[in-house]
Amino acid sequence: MSNSANLIVAIDGPAASGKGTLARRLAEILNLRYLDTGSLYRATGLSVLRAEGDPTNEEEAVKASENLDLSIFSAEDLRSEEAGMAASHVAFLPSVRAVLLEFQRSVAARPGDQFAGAILDGRDIGTVVCPDADAKIFVTADLEVRIKRRLQELKDRGEPVIESRVREDMTARDQRDRDRSVSPLKKAEDAWELDTSKMNADEALAAALSHIRGTGPQ
Ligand code: CDP
Repeated sequence: MSNSANLIVAIDGPAASGKGTLARRLAEILNLRYLDTGSLYRATGLSVLRAEGDPTNEEEAVKASENLDLSIFSAEDLRSEEAGMAASHVAFLPSVRAVLLEFQRSVAARPGDQFAGAILDGRDIGTVVCPDADAKIFVTADLEVRIKRRLQELKDRGEPVIESRVREDMTARDQRDRDRSVSPLKKAEDAWELDTSKMNADEALAAALSHIRGTGPQ
């Protein structure tokens, strides 16, 4: 860990791996500003859907990413499967990623005086957005475990769940995220892998904290 006053933690991983919960709790404990970068792609995808556009259309997606309305970040359907799918389509487009990259880097560089640094979660934080992060954690979990977690998340929000649909969507989304040429989902060479398949949220948090504090497996 560097001695810089601005601690940067990068958390990456596939859908429903537990990275969002982990990042949020680490942010609280370490007093870091938290940025869920997936929400930027979800907001872009959802804006396109709301305008009855096509998330694979580059022109429409770029325009949406440049004109994100703050209110969309609190939209009930931001975390829906539809928004997730639309997100992975707009995230495939290099020009959309370029628009959103600047904002993500500015949060990491200037999280605000009240914070000790920033923690960002997504797919390309350790590889592209913050390649010099002080700590990089690549969170994974078996596909079956991730499907269960996503089903529970949807149920908790009172959304209708069709298991086969969730399975199909998640598999397609992961594949698109891994296979794209720009900023694919990939473990950075210097990232530490945390497999949460057999861990609950508390255990994952304890493991990540000890890694960040330099006392755990590096
Ligand atoms: O919560 P979940 O893991 O399902 O997804 P998310 O983090 O909200 O991200 C939604 C989609 O945005 C992902 O499937 C990626 O296609 C895209 N994304 C990305 O490309 N790069 C990031 N840094 C974050 C998200």
